[in-house]
Amino acid sequence: MGDSSADLIVTELRAWIDTVGAGARLPSSRELARRHGASPVTVQKAMRTLVGLGLIESRSGVGSFVRGARPPKPLDFRWQTSALRSAAERVPELSTPLRDIAVDVIGLQSGYPARELLPERAVRAALSRAGRSEHAVNRPPAAGLPALQAWFATELAEVTPAGVASVSPRDVCIVPGTQSALGSAFRGLAGHGQPVLMESPTYWGAILAAAQAGLRVVPVVSDAEGPDPDDLRSAFRESGAKVFYAQPNFANPTGAQWTPERKNEILSVVRDVGAFLIEDDWARDFGIDADSVPLAGFDDAGHVVYIRSLTKSVSPAIRVGAVIARGPARERLLADRSAESMYVSGLLQAAALDVVLQPAWRSHLRTLRGTLRDRRDLLVASVQDMLPEAVVTHVPAGGLNLWLQLPDRVDLERLVRDCDAAGVLIASGTEWFPSEPSGKFIRLNYAGPDASRFPEGVGVVRAALVGQRI
Ligand SMILES: Cc1ncc(COP(=O)(O)O)c(C=O)c1O
Repeated sequence: MGDSSADLIVTELRAWIDTVGAGARLPSSRELARRHGASPVTVQKAMRTLVGLGLIESRSGVGSFVRGARPPKPLDFRWQTSALRSAAERVPELSTPLRDIAVDVIGLQSGYPARELLPERAVRAALSRAGRSEHAVNRPPAAGLPALQAWFATELAEVTPAGVASVSPRDVCIVPGTQSALGSAFRGLAGHGQPVLMESPTYWGAILAAAQAGLRVVPVVSDAEGPDPDDLRSAFRESGAKVFYAQPNFANPTGAQWTPERKNEILSVVRDVGAFLIEDDWARDFGIDADSVPLAGFDDAGHVVYIRSLTKSVSPAIRVGAVIARGPARERLLADRSAESMYVSGLLQAAALDVVLQPAWRSHLRTLRGTLRDRRDLLVASVQDMLPEAVVTHVPAGGLNLWLQLPDRVDLERLVRDCDAAGVLIASGTEWFPSEPSGKFIRLNYAGPDASRFPEGVGVVRAALVGQRI
């Protein structure tokens, strides 16, 4: 019996504790093991959790008892207010896509694919193989396991046209998820007080990472085909920025994919002004009607710093991604990575590599494409049938999200709250705007658990909108 049995015992005992008074005696460990068909180790684990939560106490040789609710003595944290003063940047406690979801809630807010979309068998097998390998006890090189660096370099080389110099494995730096690579890229390529250009709307995590690095975000409007090259050129000129963060393929949140012409034009602008483009290719494994074609494949002068994650497609438990940069920028990034986290667990790197080298990985990606297509189409159809107020700004050819515009009169905060109360989590679009939102948007993710409930979820959004009498 694994962790989930211990969690189940904890949940049941917590419900029971709520109904009994302080001092009530818990059933014996043996009795609990019998009732739940669990091992003594699992029961002990559950009991330790309840002790840790302050709900029960164990008296040696006597048993376990429900703790009395002592009137909590408020702690005095005022000294911290003086010590901390104001935060350099106010970052929200937890962005909506990272919220935990309770059982039975319809989660349309998440950023990570549900378990049923992951190559679970391959991940489990890879983890146990990695656990038996030398990677379980060795420190890997700072830039990553050479074989994994080589895999990321080859993946980029596959989409590099003939005549453009491919990146070398040495240019690849393995990172513990690309969120942390964004921080390094912003710190390494720009630095405190400097401007950074970003598409608007764009990934909330990039906005936060830039804020945390003390950068000033300058928004550049982007539509289904990407930003307007002239507007981008003006933004570079006016702001003096030398860094542009962008998602040319299946952008989060809009799903937009820049046209090939637009990609060329933008790369020319970036070259002309002597700037870096941080290309976040987060959805490389989530093409549906099209494949991701990274700009990095067309750059052989080190302008594009390329970021690719495996945490969404392999497993959120295997936080492994890569940042690929050439020239002095690579040294800057590597230095920042070493200062921040030294190296990434070799165990996780080995497991990630094992998964992507299996023949089953390719077939998994093919199946995933079909599954995402079905899910996207079901969500789009549900919205079109049941949510006449919403404009589907763009049916994405890849990625995991649908971006909907709602009438200006909608109270977004209230909408999210009302849906939440009715058991449906959605994300307000506000978090994806680097400055004032240009309208009222919501983002619905079609990779969450139990797609068959999408229509029901959209029905709840509809009821919440109707409740606002807009
Ligand atoms: C566009 C984009 N970039 C980067 C990330 C970070 O992903 P990870 O840190 O899991 O690699 C995310 C996660 O939601 C994302 O949506």
